[in-house]
Amino acid sequence: MDRPSEEQTAETVRQLRALTTPEGAAALARAAALLAEGVDAVAALTRLRAEVGTDLAGPAWGIARQRQNARATFGADADRMLFTGDTLEQAGRPELAARRAARLLAGGADSVADLGCAAGTDTIALARAGARVLAVDVDPVARELTAANAEALGVADDVWVVAGDAVELVAAARGGEVAGCGAAVLDPARRAGGRRLLDPDRWSPPWSTVAELLAKVPTSVVKVAPGLDHDRVPDGVEAEWVSVGGSIVEALLWGGAVSATWRRATVVRDGEFHELTADADPGPAPAGPVRAWLHEPDPAVIRSGLVSLVAADLGATLVDPTIAYLTSDGPAVGSPWVSSYRVDEVLPFNLKKLKALLRGHGVGRVVVKKRGSAIEPETLARQLRGPGSGAATVVVTRVDGAPTALVCDVT
Ligand SMILES: C[S@@+](CC[C@H](N)C(=O)[O-])C[C@H]1O[C@@H](n2cnc3c(N)ncnc32)[C@H](O)[C@@H]1O
Repeated sequence: MDRPSEEQTAETVRQLRALTTPEGAAALARAAALLAEGVDAVAALTRLRAEVGTDLAGPAWGIARQRQNARATFGADADRMLFTGDTLEQAGRPELAARRAARLLAGGADSVADLGCAAGTDTIALARAGARVLAVDVDPVARELTAANAEALGVADDVWVVAGDAVELVAAARGGEVAGCGAAVLDPARRAGGRRLLDPDRWSPPWSTVAELLAKVPTSVVKVAPGLDHDRVPDGVEAEWVSVGGSIVEALLWGGAVSATWRRATVVRDGEFHELTADADPGPAPAGPVRAWLHEPDPAVIRSGLVSLVAADLGATLVDPTIAYLTSDGPAVGSPWVSSYRVDEVLPFNLKKLKALLRGHGVGRVVVKKRGSAIEPETLARQLRGPGSGAATVVVTRVDGAPTALVCDVT
């Protein structure tokens, strides 16, 4: 998507403002009711135009749709907040924003600059955690959303929304403060035109501002892409990868005053937080032959470079020096760091032989996992499907350099 023109931006701001009036609130309530009734867009817009006027109908319908999308993440707050599609996509999870805010403020900072506030997820979490927040954004729509959302959620007295360029503010930072605040949150935009920007120098603000903020404002936290190269992490800065339900949802760099370790993997499972840390690079885990159990480390453990800590804990070795699968004699009972599979068969990867072996075990349904192999899991699972009533997990990987299939958890 191209950048909106100044006229489009001004029109969006005008529409958002109209929705914060009593008439706007009534239009939003009506749009939400039509959406809940399952009325399709064309019919809903026709009815809304007749009932609330042409000016409010479209914007109210748009926001009602965004609120519906936001509910899974924002719960009851979603129905009081305003989002555009872009800002909802960029918004972090509020429970993680709250955790970040609490950690950032634990050292006593009471004012925080949120540098790039978008719809205000971080601003609101910081204000709820007790800080006074200077919410900064270059985008007038983001500022409008943050102001409206702070008001709607009852924290407006602690939030100041201002226009500003984070690049300039960080360049002017002095004495451990930025924009007069003793702490900062920076969450650079890492997408443009609907695409991920893989090069941190192209983020907005760019990597140079990230590095400068971490160097100048020790009470700071920066959200970065989970794929960030470890070599970019400055000395004295803790890097943390957070996963929820087995997928990485954010990566953070903590300024010197709030860094507590070298790397941290935070794994959230069933709403519980588990943290694994290392004060220095623990190096790679040793490799060894496949044993009775295979363990797949959580991606936060892998990305944070802490697989060898888990290996030591489980008495496990890598199946291959270049592959993050572990193997040991026993299951990893209760470990939040890995998912474990009982290994029933190990064979060099060969489709025909694998099929025959599964038939022999009466296996008809297969889940395929892979690491270090070019196979396409869904395609292979289809090819391996058979008449048997049993099930199995087939792991395709390299073992000591050789393409190998591990048939696991045969039932
Ligand atoms: C990824 S979003 C922030 C999301 C927010 N932390 C949340 O969780 O909802 C990045 C924001 O930074 C803003 N931005 C980009 N470059 C900026 C700059 N140089 N100065 C200030 N804001 C900037 C964008 O307009 C966008 O609203």
